[in-house]
Amino acid sequence: MTTVSSGVPAIEIAGLDKSFGSVKALDGLDLTVPTGEVAGFLGPNGAGKSTTIRVLLGLLRSDAGVARMFGRDVWHDAVELHRHITYVPGDVSLWPNLTGGECIDYLTRLRGTADKKALRARRAELLERFELDPRKKARTYSKGNRQKVALVAAFLSDADLYILDEPTAGLDPLMESVFTDYVREAKEAGRSVLLSSHILSEVEKVCDTVTIIRNGTAVEHGTLDELRHLTRSNVTAVVGSDPAPLARLDAVNDLQVTAHDGGTRVTFDADNADIAGVLRAVTALGVHSITVTPPSLEELFMRHYGDVIEADEVAAEVAADGVPSDRAARKAARRAAKKAGVR
Ligand SMILES: Nc1ncnc2c1ncn2[C@@H]1O[C@H](COP(=O)(O)OP(=O)(O)OP(=O)(O)O)[C@@H](O)[C@H]1O
Ligand SMILES: [Mg+2]
Repeated sequence: MTTVSSGVPAIEIAGLDKSFGSVKALDGLDLTVPTGEVAGFLGPNGAGKSTTIRVLLGLLRSDAGVARMFGRDVWHDAVELHRHITYVPGDVSLWPNLTGGECIDYLTRLRGTADKKALRARRAELLERFELDPRKKARTYSKGNRQKVALVAAFLSDADLYILDEPTAGLDPLMESVFTDYVREAKEAGRSVLLSSHILSEVEKVCDTVTIIRNGTAVEHGTLDELRHLTRSNVTAVVGSDPAPLARLDAVNDLQVTAHDGGTRVTFDADNADIAGVLRAVTALGVHSITVTPPSLEELFMRHYGDVIEADEVAAEVAADGVPSDRAARKAARRAAKKAGVR
């Protein structure tokens, strides 16, 4: 497509709204995926990821806002756009009486291809890497094998944009790593990828940027490094003198102090924004050894997901007896504190 080389984003979503009756699935969603980038799209169940993807695919019409791929409107230019995208859902359905190989060939033929010999070689390679027997009837395939059929067909295509909605649901870890290899290869070939996933290791391995969506709104967006700044690193050190000064620092959280051979072991979480000051304070205590572990995406993720889980628990406790319990109140306070610290 001519627009691919002209620097237009692969995906451009701004102020996107979509309601189902009284349920507001998308609420002013913003999401941009530059061409050639692998974008992780994360969020708890019901956050609006699949709805976003269905709008992009032209399967659903949004209520308001802008949704474009390669500069074209996803609704009006859906037919043209579909020649340039490939889509893998998390729950692949196949034609039950076709074999896996026939399904792959049918899906591939739908797109058309120039070089049949190269396609055959790549098909064989994909089947081998994904350990898929293409001779079995689709109705006999397990969930994971159905996913593999769709993934083989997707990676056989020469799409400019891969739209993947939890594509590795049901795949074992070995196959998941084959999947990440092919995503990397797609990126190296200049393709763009939107990857909706609950699997953090997958996202950490392949994504250039991550967008976290909640209640139909993007709540975090950035590169993994940028997002990691929002969280805390774990510091473990053995120091020579009394660690009491550390307890007085706001950036030091959950300080634990234990006796250690010839010194004192301290373990705490440090706000990354103030890590330099924290390390100076630790150094002043006479460091015997120190380990700083950067935050994982999981911690970032859990902060957002944790809120959802806690809110549900509070609601359940309130519902049980009509008034919030002490525990519920404490949780609500923790949540508020956490939020205040975040933004
Ligand atoms: N066809 C529909 N009719 C009514 N409500 C819908 C429909 N599709 C989605 N919703 C609602 O819209 C909201 C967003 O759902 P969506 O499927 O986009 O979430 P998701 O982020 O993909 O979640 P998951 O991680 O569970 O796949 C949910 O509240 C869901 O119940
Ligand atoms: Mg979904």
